[in-house]
Amino acid sequence: MTDFRQSLEENAGAVTRALDRLLPASESPEARLMEAIRYSALGGGKRVRPFMVVAAARLFSVDESCAYRVAAAVEMIHCYSLVHDDLPAMDNDDLRRGQPACHIKFDEATAILAGDALLTKAFEVLGGEATHPDARVRCELVTELARAAGDEGMVGGQALDLMAEKVDLGVSEVTRLQRLKTGALIGFSCESGAILGKASKGARYALHAYAHDLGLAFQIIDDLLDEEGDEETVGKKTGKDKAAGKATFVSLLGVEQARTQADLLGDQAVEHLEIFEEKADPLRELARFVVNRRA
Ligand code: IPE
Ligand code: IPE
Ligand code: MG
Ligand code: MG
Ligand code: MG
Repeated sequence: MTDFRQSLEENAGAVTRALDRLLPASESPEARLMEAIRYSALGGGKRVRPFMVVAAARLFSVDESCAYRVAAAVEMIHCYSLVHDDLPAMDNDDLRRGQPACHIKFDEATAILAGDALLTKAFEVLGGEATHPDARVRCELVTELARAAGDEGMVGGQALDLMAEKVDLGVSEVTRLQRLKTGALIGFSCESGAILGKASKGARYALHAYAHDLGLAFQIIDDLLDEEGDEETVGKKTGKDKAAGKATFVSLLGVEQARTQADLLGDQAVEHLEIFEEKADPLRELARFVVNRRA
């Protein structure tokens, strides 16, 4: 295993432990809800967004325990988005991270509620004093995550994504869709390190620009994996976008050009990190990982 893979795994382990503490099993009558929450949040995933939070926070020497709380909050939002994305009313997927999707393992109502609870818990965590001693920083984290996750971000993108099965979208419309659906949360993940570290405008903008390019590359690769990947490695059903007639970079540009585009965006993302010198190497390696991943 490369050093980078190892540090991605170590970080994933640390964020899973943080999630385990923040989402404890329950013996109350609603224990089944907690079981569904823990099933969806603790079981696997690459934990790429938490890696971004922690790596960006390290650029500004942020206290690790603060960074891991933000990393856990971001992963809660991401896991909720996956639980709802798999529901029959959305992508109707049975398999997630190599396991039955939450609504298959439990039931649809429980999956909706588990998603709702993860979404709300994320903001409870950000608002908690242990996230940052300065209340203004906590307030900014809450506002920015809400923006990235809501109608101007991930949820808005999901609405456009459902439209992409029914109406013809062009490259610029799909680009906007992907920026909202995937890019916004990746943007918050990178910028939250700068918020925690009260970084300069220039440093924050550099992270914003990195995330802007890498977020788009990330979703192009997700679409390529749907087209070319195998279910076993990817851990989710493949061939779904084509079957649904969904407009993606792959359907619009073809496999080769979509890959070229992702490579270019990955290189472009890295260029924005120059001001951080070698301190940003983990984020550089992450960009390479994102465009070369097989799952
Ligand atoms: C999948 O995200 C959904 C998208 C936004 C493309 P990931 O590829 O990060 O999924 P996990 O967390 O590793 O399962
Ligand atoms: C989902 O995109 C993005 C979310 C915000 C959840 P996809 O529908 O392409 O994600 P997968 O392929 O099911 O993981
Ligand atoms: Mg979807
Ligand atoms: Mg899906
Ligand atoms: Mg996909």
